[in-house]
Amino acid sequence: MKVIGTESSQILASRIADAVRAEIVGVKFSKFPDGELYIRTGSISDEMVVVGSIVDPDSFVQLLLLIDACEGSEIQLVLPYMGYARQDKKFHDGEPVSARAVARAVSQNVNRCITVNIHDPSVLLNFSAPAKNVSVAGTIGDYIAAMALRDPLVLAPDDGAARFAQAVAEKGGWDCDHLDKTRISGEEVSIAPQKLSAENRSVVIVDDIISTGGTIATAASMLMHQGAREVFAACVHGVLSGGAFARLKAAGIREVACSDTIERGCSRYSAAGTIAGVIQDGKKTAGRR
Ligand code: R5P
Repeated sequence: MKVIGTESSQILASRIADAVRAEIVGVKFSKFPDGELYIRTGSISDEMVVVGSIVDPDSFVQLLLLIDACEGSEIQLVLPYMGYARQDKKFHDGEPVSARAVARAVSQNVNRCITVNIHDPSVLLNFSAPAKNVSVAGTIGDYIAAMALRDPLVLAPDDGAARFAQAVAEKGGWDCDHLDKTRISGEEVSIAPQKLSAENRSVVIVDDIISTGGTIATAASMLMHQGAREVFAACVHGVLSGGAFARLKAAGIREVACSDTIERGCSRYSAAGTIAGVIQDGKKTAGRR
């Protein structure tokens, strides 16, 4: 087995290769004068793990090209962050189900797909190959444990992320709650933990994605107003669009951390171990057939 990754997932691909004790294949990435992408891979093997987060149009095309370059091999596709997964329904007439379009496009010629904390697991039904979603909640729990905070309160920004926050909190047996939004007037909303008080506590807000940072920045300001001692933010996928990192820091958040599903300066923990576990389980199952 060998591992290969797109340009924006090369660090995670190398970590996965190390974790499964496989060779990483070098790739040359460049562009033709008209802007079209070109790739050329080193020598591939019969079994390939192709790693690529979809973070922009180029990463999507590079992933399709890598899969094509591995034609003839048994391919496990790892999609650490699947862009377009949040448009998983037709919200208005004339819209595509973008998650379905992307899932179909990347899974045509692969044998298995692995996603990480995908926004909604029902998206997996759109892949043409068997697909499995894994969670790095435990890894985020380990990261929080290493911060050695006194009696932290783990908070989900909404009830949709409550189960994820619970899985993080279980790692350290910490208190856990989710934030509730109450409308006070036309313009005013109050955001507070549903059951517990944040007063005098170290709060860690955890979520699957930080995109614009708006959800967490607003929540952090409210929590500090309610007397929280300090607020941290930790997510799986640091999309961090439109100046989100600075926005979160400006809101007073002590530290913003994400995993390497999207490689960022604030990637503080890796999804490689969790992904490698599934790849190795797949190998054992295949061996038993
Ligand atoms: C939404 O359902 C997701 O779980 C995140 O809460 C959301 O994508 C965060 O977006 P933003 O950072 O733009 O507030």
